[in-house]
Amino acid sequence: MQTEIKANMKNVTKRFGEVVAVNNISLDIKEGEFLVLLGPSGSGKTTLLRLLAGLEELTEGDIYIEDTLVNNLPPRHRNIAMVFQNYALYPHMSVFENLAYPLKIRKRSKEEIAKRVREVAEVLEISELFKRRPKQISGGQKQRVALGRAMIRKANLFLMDEPLSNLDAKLRVQMRAELRRLQKSMGTTTVYVTHDQAEAMTLADRVAVLNNGVVQQLDSPEEVYFHPVNRFVAGFVGSPQMNFFAGSYEEAKIKTDYFEYPLPPEVVKKLEKKGKVEKIYFGIRPEDVTVSKIEIEGAYNARIYVSELMGAESFVFFTIGNSVERFLSRTSPDFRGNMDESIWVSFKEDKIHIFDYDTDAAII
Ligand SMILES: Nc1ncnc2c1ncn2[C@@H]1O[C@H](COP(=O)(O)OP(=O)(O)OP(=O)(O)O)[C@@H](O)[C@H]1O
Ligand SMILES: [Mg+2]
Repeated sequence: MQTEIKANMKNVTKRFGEVVAVNNISLDIKEGEFLVLLGPSGSGKTTLLRLLAGLEELTEGDIYIEDTLVNNLPPRHRNIAMVFQNYALYPHMSVFENLAYPLKIRKRSKEEIAKRVREVAEVLEISELFKRRPKQISGGQKQRVALGRAMIRKANLFLMDEPLSNLDAKLRVQMRAELRRLQKSMGTTTVYVTHDQAEAMTLADRVAVLNNGVVQQLDSPEEVYFHPVNRFVAGFVGSPQMNFFAGSYEEAKIKTDYFEYPLPPEVVKKLEKKGKVEKIYFGIRPEDVTVSKIEIEGAYNARIYVSELMGAESFVFFTIGNSVERFLSRTSPDFRGNMDESIWVSFKEDKIHIFDYDTDAAII
């Protein structure tokens, strides 16, 4: 069975004067999926959502929702529920009335409204706030009321713009899990904007990584993490971020200023197939860097810059050779090292990444 397409963007561009906020994006949103738009500040995430909602006019391109061309369809006819980055609650209404509002204007029965409000409020843990006005609750609570107000009715499409950004770390993790369960149980097609890569990884069926108004990669969280298509995606997804070493490829080896890394035969084969590869970036995630206090064959001598015990793991920052740059290993909390101590580092062979130096495109 073919997955149904809920909405579709074709060569969508949005310019604000000189600024190209969204640059020729084509993208399908599948029925029932949780699609996350992930990117740094200014990458065009909010603009893309607002285009979908009909709150911005397209400069170029087409948007379809369920096969209907909606380019000129006003927001109220798109049956879309949206939680804005700067959510606004009705200040003169209580929390209960705020939640109930979308159903009230649709003339639902009192009983139905009360039932839905209770259900939604329970999930978002705001039931005890019903009587209060927005100015009498905290920022995080307001954000949850705004979420609840969007979720209360059965919309065609849910658009959420950083809906958890005002919550404290603990509540954010908790709400993230609730959102995921809720979305799966309701089966609502959701487009969710965030700059938080952990949120993208945990929530998404698919992640679209944006930079400068362009989709860099659209894939499952696993693919985006383990097989980033370029150095931007590799660096943006994953925290702490991937280590990069500038270098070159010569005679089945990667040569950097600090070490020579002999490549496994299958990688060499792949590289040779690509034709002429010279200058590259070698990438390795912190969790794929092994550290040891005793010399291991094939490992490189390094020096601890600083070692941080995080509780469940240790972050070991190190310099290698005469490097000024510092690199990172993420290792077991049992590893304790002192500043300037000599250690041995090695890279997990099946976890290395190689990027073209000029284009940043992934080669391996
Ligand atoms: N109304 C506007 N007029 C002019 N420029 C705008 C307007 N709205 C957005 N932009 C510009 O378009 C680009 C994309 O903005 P957008 O708000 O979509 O980014 P974002 O990815 O949502 O960022 P953030 O994570 O900071 O919310 C930015 O360079 C921004 O300055
Ligand atoms: Mg934004």
